[in-house]
Amino acid sequence: MATLGVIGSGSIGTAVARLAIAAGVEVVLSNSRGPQTLTSTVAGLGEAARAATPQEAARAGDQVVVAVPLTAYRSLPVAALRGKVVLDTINYYATRDGHLEDLDSGRTTTSELVQAHLVGARTVKAFNNIAAFHIPALARPVGAPDRSALPIAGNDAAARAQAAELIGRLGFDTVDVGPLSQSWRFEPETAAYAPAYAADPAAVLRGWQQVVDDLRAGRAPRLPAPDAGSPLSAARLGELLAGAERELTADRVVA
Ligand SMILES: NC(=O)c1ccc[n+]([C@@H]2O[C@H](COP(=O)([O-])OP(=O)(O)OC[C@H]3O[C@@H](n4cnc5c(N)ncnc54)[C@H](OP(=O)(O)O)[C@@H]3O)[C@@H](O)[C@H]2O)c1
Repeated sequence: MATLGVIGSGSIGTAVARLAIAAGVEVVLSNSRGPQTLTSTVAGLGEAARAATPQEAARAGDQVVVAVPLTAYRSLPVAALRGKVVLDTINYYATRDGHLEDLDSGRTTTSELVQAHLVGARTVKAFNNIAAFHIPALARPVGAPDRSALPIAGNDAAARAQAAELIGRLGFDTVDVGPLSQSWRFEPETAAYAPAYAADPAAVLRGWQQVVDDLRAGRAPRLPAPDAGSPLSAARLGELLAGAERELTADRVVA
């Protein structure tokens, strides 16, 4: 793959972009405020990166990472993403995103909402279940004994295969759970979610709770120290996904 489009160039978007550039892929980044606000991000990524609008990033990308807040999914450019493999990193946190009954009730999943909006795109949920700081910490070359795996889900088998090929180049094995309706298996607070990649999962959860408590109290959130990370093999991830129990919003510790 020659070019990766990135819509949403914050923590996750730039972490994936950095791995893509290291793997020889060109990257076109975008955000909501315009390419002129991404000058320092692009400079930090090097010559294989440039900034553009979301429409331009979508058109330029052979695959496109969507790493925006859930509240922004309806502004994703439908026409420009038609036919593309869209790697959807979006998670739902009601504290941050507001309550959505269809998600609170488990009637659908965040990625199915994204797919319903992106008519004609081939959405693959990916990179949503790993903390941004664990992406560079755990990426490894093919065959490394401590290579970690990420889950993927999508309604189009060929798109899942293309996403797996890209993610493999970026440094992770994949475990394919099938259609988007199964993507709840790696949504927040399932066993396969972010603390599964942590050296100290309990500390990570405490840190998130602190952020939520701070936001609820109207304080500036105190960000936890980054965890060093701990490899999660494809075999172990497969067990976690197979044994997953659906966590509805109301049942979550950090909702
Ligand atoms: N951070 C993590 O560890 C992590 C891990 C897994 C999944 N996720 C999920 O991934 C998504 C992104 O998380 P993040 O932590 O990377 O967020 P972030 O650091 O806040 O970055 C969000 C990015 O989205 C852009 N954006 C917002 N609205 C947009 C729009 N309408 N069109 C285009 N770009 C828009 C923002 O641009 P502006 O700044 O210009 O508004 C910013 O570049 C979220 O759904 C999150 O739940 C995050």
